[in-house]
Amino acid sequence: MTSKIWGGRFQDATAAVLEAINVSIDFDKRLWPQDIAASLAHVAMLEHCGIVSDADAAKIRDGLSQIKAEIAAGDFVFSRKLEDIHMNVESRLAELIGPAAGRLHTARSRNDQVATDFRLYIRDAIDRLDAQLADLQIALATKALEEAATVMPGFTHLQSAQPVTFGHHLLAYVEMISRDRGRFRDARARLNESPLGAAALAGTSFPIDRGDTAKALGFDRPTANSLDSVSDRDFVLETLSAAAICATHLSRFAEEIVLWTTVQFSFVALSDKFTTGSSIMPQKRNPDAAELVRGKSGRIIGGLQALLIVMKGLPLAYSKDMQEDKEGAFDALDSLELCIAAIAGMTRDMSANRARMREAAGAGYATATDLADWLVRALGLPFREAHHVTGRIVGIASERGVGLEDLSLADLQAVEPRMTAQVFDVLGVDKSVESRVSYGGAAPANVSAQAEAWLKKLEAPAP
Ligand code: ARG
Repeated sequence: MTSKIWGGRFQDATAAVLEAINVSIDFDKRLWPQDIAASLAHVAMLEHCGIVSDADAAKIRDGLSQIKAEIAAGDFVFSRKLEDIHMNVESRLAELIGPAAGRLHTARSRNDQVATDFRLYIRDAIDRLDAQLADLQIALATKALEEAATVMPGFTHLQSAQPVTFGHHLLAYVEMISRDRGRFRDARARLNESPLGAAALAGTSFPIDRGDTAKALGFDRPTANSLDSVSDRDFVLETLSAAAICATHLSRFAEEIVLWTTVQFSFVALSDKFTTGSSIMPQKRNPDAAELVRGKSGRIIGGLQALLIVMKGLPLAYSKDMQEDKEGAFDALDSLELCIAAIAGMTRDMSANRARMREAAGAGYATATDLADWLVRALGLPFREAHHVTGRIVGIASERGVGLEDLSLADLQAVEPRMTAQVFDVLGVDKSVESRVSYGGAAPANVSAQAEAWLKKLEAPAP
C-alpha cells in the first residue's frame, strides 16, 4: 500500500511524471480560504445531522481554525506530494487532531469540494471586479462632466466624421462598463448554488442537509442534479466570457489612449506617472500601461477559449481534465483586475488638450452633415439633394484649401441660389455639437446631464 490519502488499493509508488502532471497545489493553494470555509460549513452540517459526533466536530473545527491561521501567517508547508489544496488541508488536519480528521470527508468527495471552492472563489472575484468597475465608471463620468463641452472630432473609419464632445466619448465607455457589470451580475446570480453534497457524482446515502451548507456559504440553494453539480464549469465560462468582453472594451479604450497621446493626435497627455521613456530616444513618452491593457486582452480572451476547449469533449461527470479550469481563470481574472486599475488610473491622470481637439474637430469638413441638414430644414430640400449640394460646396472649399465657414455667401449661392446668411450659424463646430440634442446625442447639455445622473447613481450607497 502506498502512503497516499487515496492509496488503499495501490501497490506501487506513483511515477514521477504522473506526479508532475497531476499536481495542482502550486496554483490551487489560493483556494485555501474557500476550502476551509466549505469544510467548516460541511462539518457543522454533519454535526447537526448526527453524522459526526459533537466531540469530533469540535476537534475538526479547532484543527481547521489552526490551519487557517497557519496558512494566513505563511507558516503552512504546502506539499506537492499531496497533490492539491484539499488533500494538503486534510492531511494537516490529521496531523493536528488524529483519526477524527478522517470523518470530515464523510458524504463528500473532492469533486463536489472543488466545485464548491471554485464557485466561492469566482463569486468573490466577481464582487471585487464589480467594485473596481464601479470605480472606473466614476473616473470616466467625472472626467466626462469636466469635458462635457470639449469639442472633439467624432470618427467613423477613423476618418473625421462629425464633431462630438470628449465628455460624450467618455460616457460611451461608462455605458459599456455598465453592461459589463450586468453580465458579471448575471453570471453571479446563476452560479450562486451549492454543489456541496453532490459527493463524487451520485449524491450520498448519508442523511445530509444540503440546504444547511448552501445557506452557511451564502448560496441561494443547493444545485438540483448531482451529476451536473460536479461536472459543469459553465459558471467559470460565463464569468470568463464577461471578462473577455470587458477586456475588449478596455482594450479599445487603451487603443484610443495610445492614438490620442501621439504627437500627431495630441488630444490628451498622460503625466510622468503613466508614461515611460525610451532608452535611446530622449523625446519619447510611451503609454506602456495602455499598450499592456490592449495586449493583456489576449490572455483574458485566451483563458475563455482554453476552458471552452477543455470542456467541450468531456463525458459526464468529473474528469481530471477539469483541473485545467483554474490556472487560465486565475490568470484571466488577475489580469482583468490589473487592466481595470490601470485604465481607471490613466482616466484620472489624463489631461485633455482642448485647443488641439477643437482644431481637429473642425478639420475634414466635419460640419458638412450640419450644412446638409440645414438645407433640408431651412430650404425644404430632400435630404439626398441636400447631400449632393453639400458635396459640391465641400469640393469648392477643398479646392481652395479653406473651411466651409470661410466661404462667402456668394460662393454658397453659386451652388444653391436660395442660400441665406443664416447658414453660417450651423457651420461652426460648437453650433454643430450644440444642435445634437436628440436623446443620447452629443450636445454638451445632454452630456452634463448624463454624467451627473451617472455620478449620482454610482456614488449612491448600494441598496
Ligand atoms: N485537484 C482536483 C481538481 O482541481 C480536485 C478534484 C479531484 N478529484 C478527483 N476525483 N481526482 O479538479
